[in-house]
Amino acid sequence: MTIIKGKTVILTGASRGLGVYIARNLAKEQATIVGVSRSKLGLDRVGEQIKALGGKWISIPFDMKNVAELSTLVTQINEVAGPVDILINNAGIEIYRNFVDYSLEEMQSVVTTNLLSVMEITRLLLPIMLKRCSGHIVNIASVAGKKGVAYNSVYSASKAGLILWTDAIRQELAGTDVNISVICPGYVSKVGMTINTSIPVPQLAGISTPTKVANAVIKSLKQNQAEVIVNQNQVTESLTKLIFVIGQIYPEFIDTIYRLIGVVKLNQRRAENLNSIEILPNQIKKQLNNTGLA
Ligand SMILES: NC(=O)c1ccc[n+]([C@@H]2O[C@H](COP(=O)([O-])OP(=O)(O)OC[C@H]3O[C@@H](n4cnc5c(N)ncnc54)[C@H](OP(=O)(O)O)[C@@H]3O)[C@@H](O)[C@H]2O)c1
Repeated sequence: MTIIKGKTVILTGASRGLGVYIARNLAKEQATIVGVSRSKLGLDRVGEQIKALGGKWISIPFDMKNVAELSTLVTQINEVAGPVDILINNAGIEIYRNFVDYSLEEMQSVVTTNLLSVMEITRLLLPIMLKRCSGHIVNIASVAGKKGVAYNSVYSASKAGLILWTDAIRQELAGTDVNISVICPGYVSKVGMTINTSIPVPQLAGISTPTKVANAVIKSLKQNQAEVIVNQNQVTESLTKLIFVIGQIYPEFIDTIYRLIGVVKLNQRRAENLNSIEILPNQIKKQLNNTGLA
């Protein structure tokens, strides 16, 4: 069990989306939050909200793709906030494409943001956590890392890598006082990358709330959970797990289910409609309203 009260937490991807909900939960638990993302404006806006809730917040703008500079970021955080107790790797991007249409730069951008930066910042922070006999890392992956998702294949690969890397490190950390968890949300309502495209998601796939994902992060810390699937309710969570188990034995059967419930069609439409994952202007306003930041 990880105690959150009074702890220093790095939260990447803290400027919008799920990061705002995770930050609020951490503030309720009385942690000091070091918010990291590219947008200083976004971080400061979230910081104001957190401080209004009585929370402690430090904004550090940083592009997680600059993996070679992560050691400088860690030094900076140690100087301003002291040793890090909890690392929540939440920053992530996706780019919908027919696979052959990806550029090398796009593939590097997704894999570096979602996987390589997570491994590097963890590699830099782990020695101190191990020395202090205390620490917890939470990685925000996705159900797209449990079963490949067409037209979002590079994202799927990065999240699958994140899930299995977490699995491997958990075994390396066995017997230490440092823990690691991975959260795998399905589609999420109100804020974040699912709704950025404005294309409705298939009803049968289930859709959870950002609050549910943020609550799962806190629970994973308190109960030291290895892997958590987050979906609309317990029934859809159990069904999702069953689908992944069956998919290990009969992958093509689950391909058919994904096709029938509309997952493939949805992503095909996203790949056709979007040239990048940048948020559409009307979505920015909607999301700021949903997070109470407007
Ligand atoms: N929403 C969903 O439906 C869903 C479902 C499953 C999993 N997830 C996962 O949940 C996490 C959060 O997603 P979200 O839905 O909240 O997405 P989002 O609304 O697009 O927010 C992404 C966050 O990541 C930050 N970020 C992106 N690239 C970055 C970079 N290079 N360096 C630093 N920060 C960066 C963004 O901040 P800046 O732009 O300011 O850098 C932003 O704060 C992701 O890992 C995602 O894969 C989301």
